Amino acid sequence: MTILVTGGAGYIGAHVVRVLHERGEEVVVVDDLSTGRAERIGGATLVHLDVASPEAVGTLTRTMRDHDVTAVIHFAARKQVGESVERPAYYYQQNVGGLTNVISAMEAAGVDRLVFSSSAATYGMPAVSLVEEKLHAEPINPYGETKLIGEWLGRAASRAWGLRFVALRYFNVAGAGWDELGDPAILNLIPMVLDRVERGERPAIFGDDYPTPDGTCIRDYIHVLDLAEAHVAALEYLAEDTREHDVFNVGTGRGASVREVIDGLAEISGVTMDAEIKPRRAGDPPHLVASPERINTVLGWHATRTFDDILTSAWNAWQAGPRRIEA
Ligand code: UFG
Repeated sequence: MTILVTGGAGYIGAHVVRVLHERGEEVVVVDDLSTGRAERIGGATLVHLDVASPEAVGTLTRTMRDHDVTAVIHFAARKQVGESVERPAYYYQQNVGGLTNVISAMEAAGVDRLVFSSSAATYGMPAVSLVEEKLHAEPINPYGETKLIGEWLGRAASRAWGLRFVALRYFNVAGAGWDELGDPAILNLIPMVLDRVERGERPAIFGDDYPTPDGTCIRDYIHVLDLAEAHVAALEYLAEDTREHDVFNVGTGRGASVREVIDGLAEISGVTMDAEIKPRRAGDPPHLVASPERINTVLGWHATRTFDDILTSAWNAWQAGPRRIEA
C-alpha cells in the first residue's frame, strides 16, 4: 500500500509527505522539480516527471502498478494568479492537462482514490462573510478556472468509473511545520513581507481603502501543518466504502487583515516593519474567509494551530534559511 503524491517536493506537498511518513505510510513522489526540491522528500521514492507531459500517462500508470499504489494526492500544478492571466493556455495545459493525465493513469492502473488540491480561487469575489461550498463558484482568473474544471473532471470520473474523489479548497496557506520545509517561493504575503524587510525595504500593502475595518484585505490563513492533516483526514474518508466525490473548504473561519499580518510579524520578530501603501492589486477580493463547517463535521478535521503559530513558524523558518533578518 503506497500513496502517490504529485508535486510532493513543493512547499505544501513536502509537508504532506512528511506527515504521511510519520504515520508509517509508503510514499512515492512524482515531481518535475521545477519549483520543488528533491531534498525535501526524505526517504520517499522520487519519479522525476512533468505530469502534464505527453509521456506522463504511461509513466504514471507504470509507477502506480510497480508500487502497489492505493491512493493519489495531486498537488503538481502552477499557482500564480497573475501569470495565469498572462498565459491562460499554459495554465490550462499544466493544470487541467496534468489532472487529466493523473486520472487517466489511475483508471488504467485501477487506483480509485484521489485527493485534489483545489483553491478558494474557485469562488472569485464572493460577497459573503463566510464562504460555503454550496456557493456558486465563479472564478475570476484562469488559475481559479483550472481548479474548478479539475473539480468537474473529478466528479465526472467519479460518475463514469467510480473514482472516489475529494477536492480540498485551500484558503491562504502559510507557516511551516519544519523550518527546512517552510520556504515557499516568494509569492505570498508573509514571504513577500520578509523578503522586503531582509532587503532593507518597507513591506508593501496593496491597498488600504477596502471596505474592511482597517482598510486592508482580509484572508483566512491556514497553517500548512493543519492543511497537511486535512489531507490525511480526506484519505481516511476515501478509504470508507461508500464514498463518492466531494468538495471541502480548508480554512479556519477566522480572518486576518494584511495589516494584522505585518504587525504580528513585527511583534514576533522584534523587527520594525513600517509598511508602505501601494495601489490595489488587480483581482483581490476584499474579504475571503472559509466556512469550515462541512470539513469539521463530515471529515472531523479542525484547524488546531493559531494565527500566532502561523506567524511564529513562518518567521522561524525564514530565520533558519540563508537570508536571516537581524533584529
Ligand atoms: N499583499 C500585500 N502585500 C504583499 C503581498 C500581498 O498587501 O506584499 C496582500 C494581497 O493584496 C492580498 C493579501 O495580501 O490582499 C494576500 O495575498 P497573497 O498573495 O498572499 O494571497 P491571495 O489571497 O492573493 O492568494 C491566495 C493564493 C492563491 C489563491 C488565492 C485565492 O496564493 O493561489 O489565495 O484563494 F488563488
